[in-house]
Amino acid sequence: MMLLKTFFALCVALLVSGAPTEEQLEKRQRAAVITRCTVPNTAALTFDDGPYWYIYDLSRLLKANNATGTFFFNGNNYGCIYSEDNVKRVRYAYNQGHQIASHTWGHRDLTTLTWDQMALRRITGAVPAFMRPPYGNYNNLVLDASGIRKQSVVIWDFDSGDSVGVSPANQKTRYTQLANRRPSTILALNHEVHASTVFDVMPHAINQLRAKGYRLVSVAECLGRAPYQSVGSPEARTSAWTC
Ligand SMILES: *[C@@H]1O[C@H](CO)[C@@H](O)[C@H](O)[C@H]1NC(C)=O
Ligand SMILES: [Zn+2]
Repeated sequence: MMLLKTFFALCVALLVSGAPTEEQLEKRQRAAVITRCTVPNTAALTFDDGPYWYIYDLSRLLKANNATGTFFFNGNNYGCIYSEDNVKRVRYAYNQGHQIASHTWGHRDLTTLTWDQMALRRITGAVPAFMRPPYGNYNNLVLDASGIRKQSVVIWDFDSGDSVGVSPANQKTRYTQLANRRPSTILALNHEVHASTVFDVMPHAINQLRAKGYRLVSVAECLGRAPYQSVGSPEARTSAWTC
């Protein structure tokens, strides 16, 4: 009798509230895809595929120009994120106030999606709120996986072309033309692993964008959102820090 009553009450509650359909449940989990900044007059310079050698020079260039960068780091692409050098690079970028975000573990294998997030938390104490899928490619599986990790997927609305063989001269032309078009906001894709990007194209790009009055901010700032799901203390290295 008690059970029946409970069952009946549940049915009524469901009828009143309307149980979520499977589709609604799916939608709730699926990550949002961001393709542009929303805060007017902001430009977000983003850098994929690191951590890498040039990060100190790149950070100094950004800081010298009152700019904050966003770094989409891999766990194991150009090198293992747990190497002594890479841990220093990630911590340096984070401590300089740049935004740290994830770019998956191996730049390929989306089934290991969770390990890059764990590495960044161990190294910096922060859990990123944003990720970028390799090549900007995603399907519902990627969006579901990112949704479960409570991360938004960040694409871009401007590509310097540095990863697809565009010459540095032409990349600079692209930035000049972009600045002259003067869109309200910019979300720019670059890769910190190319010397020409860091030492040749970026100084030009930053000058052009500053001359047009953009604020050079992180992706989180250009969206008016928080960069991290949580922040805490970095952990000390253990034998589990391997790739
Ligand atoms: C530096 O950047 C911040 C954040 O975008 C901005 O609020 C500030 O006005 C900038 N300062 C200068 C001197 O450009
Ligand atoms: Zn990449």
